[in-house]
Amino acid sequence: MQDAPLPLSEKAQQHVDALKTHPALTRLVFTGFMGCGKSTLGRKLASVLGFRFVDTDNAIEHFHHKKIARIFQEDGEATFRQYESDCLAHCLNQDQTVIATGGGALVRQDNLDLALDNAIVIYIEVDENDLLDRVMFSPKERPLINVKDPDAVVKRLYAERTPFYEQAQVHVQTGGLKPQDALEAVIESLYNYVTYFLPSVSKNVSSAEPV
Ligand code: S3P
Repeated sequence: MQDAPLPLSEKAQQHVDALKTHPALTRLVFTGFMGCGKSTLGRKLASVLGFRFVDTDNAIEHFHHKKIARIFQEDGEATFRQYESDCLAHCLNQDQTVIATGGGALVRQDNLDLALDNAIVIYIEVDENDLLDRVMFSPKERPLINVKDPDAVVKRLYAERTPFYEQAQVHVQTGGLKPQDALEAVIESLYNYVTYFLPSVSKNVSSAEPV
């Protein structure tokens, strides 16, 4: 059973109210390394915005009736990557949707470009050592690190993937934050991005007010 969402701080709630009515906010895509919290934060953000939530890994498993680990094992990584690209393209056609992608989805430049063109992409940044601790809890579900020397794989992937993740429009550092505080950090960064970088946004300030 899902926990009931905790109430947001007044400031975060005001930001959410402004974001909900903003025309540029149709789709949000979470990216970042495996274990960074994309799915948890994506689900929470979708809930406060009243948007649909899709986790691409779950959607692929559901659609193909197979766990990700089995797809890797029986069909190979290339097949999984194709499923992932197809799933992402499909999700990017839906409105009012928050999409949590697998850690490898946006490290293909074509997928990343598609997401940047059709959504606001949010990168959840977590320190490499924190990630190692987190992903070690579930190596079976993550075939890429279900290997003899997972530390070396994490290190290599972290270095290879960071330049892709860093192309996201919104970056949020969540290391050391509790889930609710991480959600508020995402809301604040998203609000700041929309307010200051998207020209059509009103800053939630009455036009009659002197600037
Ligand atoms: C992968 C990350 C996983 C999953 C698959 C491959 C990756 O998702 O898509 O195991 O290449 O980083 P999470 O990032 O949700 O763990």
